[in-house]
This record gives sequence, C-alpha cells and structure tokens, in this order.
Amino acid sequence: MNAAAANIGVVGLAVMGSNLARNLASREGNTVAVYNRSRTKTDELVQAHPEAGFVPAFSYEEFAASLSKPRTAIIMVKAGGPTDAVIDELVKVFEPGDIIVDGGNAYFPDTIRREKAVRETGINFVGAGISGGEEGALNGPSIMPGGSDESWVTLGPILKSIAAVADDGEPCVTHIGHDGAGHFVKMVHNGIEYADMQLIAEAYDLIRRGTGRTPAEIADIFAEWNTGELESYLIEITAEVLRQVDAETGKPLVDVILDQAGAKGTGAWTVQTALSLGVPVSGIAEATFARSLSSHPEQREVARVLPGPGTEFQVDDADGFVEDVRQALFASKIIAYSQGFDEIRAGAAEYNWTIDLGAVSKIWRAGCIIRAQFLNRIADAYAEQPELPVLATAPYFADALTRGQAAWRRVVIAATQAGIPSPAFSSSLAYYDGLRADRLPAALVQGQRDFFGAHTYKRIDKEGTFHTLWSGDRTEIEAEDTH
Ligand SMILES: NC(=O)c1ccc[n+]([C@@H]2O[C@H](COP(=O)([O-])OP(=O)(O)OC[C@H]3O[C@@H](n4cnc5c(N)ncnc54)[C@H](OP(=O)(O)O)[C@@H]3O)[C@@H](O)[C@H]2O)c1
Repeated sequence: MNAAAANIGVVGLAVMGSNLARNLASREGNTVAVYNRSRTKTDELVQAHPEAGFVPAFSYEEFAASLSKPRTAIIMVKAGGPTDAVIDELVKVFEPGDIIVDGGNAYFPDTIRREKAVRETGINFVGAGISGGEEGALNGPSIMPGGSDESWVTLGPILKSIAAVADDGEPCVTHIGHDGAGHFVKMVHNGIEYADMQLIAEAYDLIRRGTGRTPAEIADIFAEWNTGELESYLIEITAEVLRQVDAETGKPLVDVILDQAGAKGTGAWTVQTALSLGVPVSGIAEATFARSLSSHPEQREVARVLPGPGTEFQVDDADGFVEDVRQALFASKIIAYSQGFDEIRAGAAEYNWTIDLGAVSKIWRAGCIIRAQFLNRIADAYAEQPELPVLATAPYFADALTRGQAAWRRVVIAATQAGIPSPAFSSSLAYYDGLRADRLPAALVQGQRDFFGAHTYKRIDKEGTFHTLWSGDRTEIEAEDTH
C-alpha cells in the first residue's frame, strides 16, 4: 500500500465504479484509490488497467490510509441499503473535513437524510447525480453534485476533470445546491428523459401508421430531423434503432422487440415528487403511465374487444403530415422541458436550495441522455430572465409554439380520430391550453367543493373568502363573507 498516495478514491467497482475510477485515473493530477467489498473486482480492475496506476485497498482502514487529506471518496454501489452500509464504514475511518460522495442513483430524500446524519460527524456528504450510463462514466458524464460549499472546493476541480465537455469547452458539472439538490435535479433529468423518449415514440408511431412508411424510411426522417431544431442524442439513436434489422428474421428489429417498456423508478419518483409539490408535469407523468400501460399484457389482451373508430388511418399528404408531426414533437418537447424546469424551481423553493436553472441546462448539453443543442436555448432564456416563471414563454420557445401550434393541433386531432394513443402529445397540448387560458373551469370545481364540503372560495370582484349557504332545492343561494 502507498500511504496517502491518492487524492481520490472509489468504493464499489462494478461497471459504473470501475469506469469512473478509470476516467479519474486518466486525468492529469489524479491518483485513484480503489476498494470493493469483495476482493475479486479490485484485483481484476487493477490487473486489467496497469496504466491507471490504481492504489488498491482491501479494507476500509487501508482505503482511508491511502487517501491524502481531505480524504475524498466516491461511492458507486447498489443504491439503497448498500449505500448506507458503505457510508457507515467510511464514517468510522474518515475524519472531520473529509468528503464522502454518493454517485449512485439515490432518491433525494435519502440524500437529505444521509447528509444530515454525516454532517453531525464533521464529515461532508455529497449526493451527486451522475448521468450517462457506463459509457459516460468512462469518457465523461454529466455530473449533478449537491452538498456543502466547503466540499465543492475540493471536489469541484476533480469532478470538472472527469465530466463531459460541452461544445463551448465548459465541463458538464456545476454545484447544484446543498444536501439533496444534486440527486433531485438528476431525478428530474431522468423524468424529462422519459417524456422525450415517449414523445419520439409517439411521433414514430403516428408517421408509421399514418403514412405507411417503413422503419428504415422513418430512420431517414429522424436523421434529417437531427440536423435541425430537434437535434439531440435521443433523435440520433432513434434513427439507428429504427434502421436496425433483426439478423434472425430479417425484419426491422423494432417489430421483433416486445412492446412492453421497463422502468427503474426515477420517472415515478419525478411524478410522485411533482404531485407533492403541486407541479403539473403531465408529459413526464403520461410517459411514465404509458410504460405502465404497455407492461400489462393481460389487460391489453382483454381490452382488444373494445371498439376503435373503425376507419383506416391514411393521411392524404404524407410529407405534410410528417412535417406536422415534427412541429408537434418540438412543441410538446418544449412543454415537457418547461414542466421539468418548473419542478426544479418548485423543489428549490420547497427545500431551500439556490439552483441556477441556466447552469442546470448547460450541464445537460453533453454526457447525458437528453443532451441536445436545444439546451443552449434554455440557458439563453434563463440568462435573459433568471426568474422566468414559465420557460415556454421565453421568446425563442413562444415563437416556436406560435409557429407549431396549428400543426400540433392537427396531429392531436388526427391521432384522436384514428384511435392512435398519443398521451404525451395530447397532454402537452392540454397543458399549453390550460396555462394560457383566460379563465378555467376551476371556478366550477370551487363551487362544487364549497357545496359538498364548505371549502369556501374567492371572488373575482372583491377581497375575502366566501361560503354559500347552498339550499336543499338549490334555489336559495346566499353568499357570506367569512373573511
Ligand atoms: N447514472 C447511470 O447512468 C447509472 C447507470 C447504472 C448504474 N448507476 C448507479 O450507479 C451505482 C452503481 O451501479 P453499478 O451498475 O455499477 O453497480 P450495482 O450492480 O448497482 O452494484 C454493485 C456494486 O455494489 C456493491 N455492493 C452491493 N452491496 C453492497 C454492500 N452491502 N456493501 C458494499 N458494497 C456493496 C457490489 O460489491 P460486490 O462486488 O462485493 O458485490 C458492487 O461493487 C448504482 O447506484 C446505480 O444505480 C447509474
């Protein structure tokens, strides 16, 4: 063992941890200590990558002794109980001022709890969302760290050295905010990813069923879209997925893949949190529910007896329809991102985090799944107006919605008439119309609430809180100022 030779350590050397350790070791100035619960993974990593100059440790004591102060360790183990188990061990061998980073996919309330508990020992705890999967961990992820300002001083340069780099040379990492802020933002990132993927899937489905184009032809359409305002990693990989042919059957691979989408839970966390915060993230919610619906084959089987509209879906102007779908996709995407940023804004207010929304959009420009040029426009919007209440109202997005709304409505109408599910397209449009409405039927809901539960209501013409004495025969109505 080389005493105190390493400036950073990694605990947990499965796929993510070993790739992150290799990424760290490849950057100038880093020497990386590595530890894994079972020895085999440590031995295998050190033997496979002698060029990395890893400092292996086989106990927590040895691991702590191999790190220079303040000791800094990134945990990359299975989220949940294993993370708590590793934190408990590190706290025993670390000292006040040292830094423990959880780079796993933790649920942000767990990070808030862990930060509070670890802080009492004088050790810093940082929950860091790391996006980009195993490829990102190795070559440059987008990193969303929370934790104290003190820990950022040591951790910032290390994380900047391994993060993905955006086109303008900026590393895709920023100190998001205190305690659970990093994992919160990573959670919403994943929720937005769900919405973006669902919207793209709906666009594909509508084009295929409306125009009869083959997956390979639609791949060309997506490749073309990837040169314009929709340019993004997800559009790029969609073209590749659609072009893939199954070697066994010769069919497009997308036709051979079972149509039941899986989920690891971050979409559900995003929606549950949004419900608690009272923020409508309908695009993310519909995307999450669409995966749930797809994964109930027994219900889908019995529901096939239910009637559809009974008409053939064949558009007259295929090229025009494809362009309409492109515009509907862009408009719906603007709404999905606007909703996601709204959730971050509301989360920051609820948990007392100071989150720079423009900086968040910038660190998503490379290294993560939703990376896209589009994020530069979000950064521009927040640079111009940091307190922007609705992202979709920023001039660039408002202009795109103005240009695209007629096409968006045509696509939702066509999908509805043809009986093709487009929950993310149509819920985004409903949100758009709800948000811009002069007056909502919420007034009637307030009346109903007051009728059955004396929940009271406010009036448009005077201050105060009112309750009506609703009569049994509904004829005698009297307002009472209870203010
Ligand atoms: N951001 C992303 O894109 C992304 C992608 C994948 C994963 N992740 C997250 O990154 C983390 C690591 O993922 P992974 O796929 O590399 O590994 P994983 O399969 O989630 O976990 C395996 C690792 O956890 C260790 N471990 C399990 N229980 C433990 C315990 N009680 N005490 C100590 N160590 C324990 C294992 O050690 P042994 O070898 O001894 O069993 C092994 O090193 C997870 O939180 C995961 O959710 C993120």
